[in-house]
Amino acid sequence: MVGSARLDWLDVEHRPSAGRAAQPIYLDHAATTPLDPEVRAALLPWLGELFGNPSSAHGHGRRARAAVDDARDRVAAAAGCASREVILTSGGTEADNLALRGVLERWGAERGRHLVVSAIEHEAVLATAQRLAEAGRADLTVVDCDRQGRIDPAAVASAVRPDTVLVSVMLANNEVGTVQDVPAIAAAVRARNPRSLVHTDAVQALGRLPLGLGALGVDLLSLSAHKAYGPQGVGALVAGHAVFPAAQITGGGQERERRSGTENVAGVVGFGAAAELARRRQETDAAELSHLAGWLTDLLMESVPGRWRSLSSWACSRCRLRSSSLAIAPAAWSARTCAWSRSTSVEGRSGLAPGSGGRSGEEGAGSPWRWRLPPRWPTADRAAGDRSPSGPLPTWR
Ligand SMILES: Cc1ncc(COP(=O)(O)O)c(C=O)c1O
Repeated sequence: MVGSARLDWLDVEHRPSAGRAAQPIYLDHAATTPLDPEVRAALLPWLGELFGNPSSAHGHGRRARAAVDDARDRVAAAAGCASREVILTSGGTEADNLALRGVLERWGAERGRHLVVSAIEHEAVLATAQRLAEAGRADLTVVDCDRQGRIDPAAVASAVRPDTVLVSVMLANNEVGTVQDVPAIAAAVRARNPRSLVHTDAVQALGRLPLGLGALGVDLLSLSAHKAYGPQGVGALVAGHAVFPAAQITGGGQERERRSGTENVAGVVGFGAAAELARRRQETDAAELSHLAGWLTDLLMESVPGRWRSLSSWACSRCRLRSSSLAIAPAAWSARTCAWSRSTSVEGRSGLAPGSGGRSGEEGAGSPWRWRLPPRWPTADRAAGDRSPSGPLPTWR
């Protein structure tokens, strides 16, 4: 089956044709997305003829301020929040840092300094929480996930204490794609301690899932433009108006004293355009991606029956692609932190010798070019209508 003609589309797509160089297939959109042409067109003037400091009172400044405000409105519309709740940052990492550090600094003395995070958070949350704990500034509880990579709301709630100031559980995972039931997690946290704040890292969800502080039941939400066809180096922390995280970058008092620094006007304008696109295309993109994911999984399941395959030794040779030009998100890192990965990535645990079959993979050491099929996503489920690894798209709004 590996030699199946069903893989020929990859060959055909990428064979250099008369006068045209081969185009790599880019499948690493969880790492970053290409800039959408509409986004590029929106931001380019701000790298050329348009300029100005949004804090300046003269015409150039006012024009830059208007552009930033307009972009902020678009981000707010996509994130389901008020414009004044959007704190523009240098990206998702800074947004996550501001959520954890800013909440701890603002509310720690009053509400406690206990943090709860899930084990499958992006390092921007996990490493920050660990750093705060190591520095003695916070107590930390890390909640593990189950075999499907899901975080149990009851497990999160049972980790919450009277002194829990913040719970952070991501909406969509950047490695295995699992979507958490954030509304249920937030409700369980509040039932246990109504004073605890809830943050979700929604960086991978913009343009893919419905967002909103109210709809998700959270107080804070992180976004990043470059995961949704916007530019790199710009993002936002959405913070409910009563949260007011303490600024971690101090200076001129921009962003209503919550994040200082002259705004990255071109980047912010691009973010606004990307957010607008995300809002407009979300439903059609989700349906199309879900369809493509099902189709690709079928293809792989039929072509590579019961085997984990290293792309470098299989797909790249089969498809005549240089491995450096084919980007597949390496899933190996999740093995460090996730119970699902630990239990499914070591074949010995399920009694299988490495490579002897089944859908479990080898431990993620070595080559990052390792293909991982979605867990528990058999063809039968999809035939029954479940088209995504974590079930049908949630509809919490
Ligand atoms: C879930 C998640 N959170 C945060 C980040 C960090 O975002 P940024 O690259 O904008 O700093 C990423 C980026 O990989 C991510 O996937």
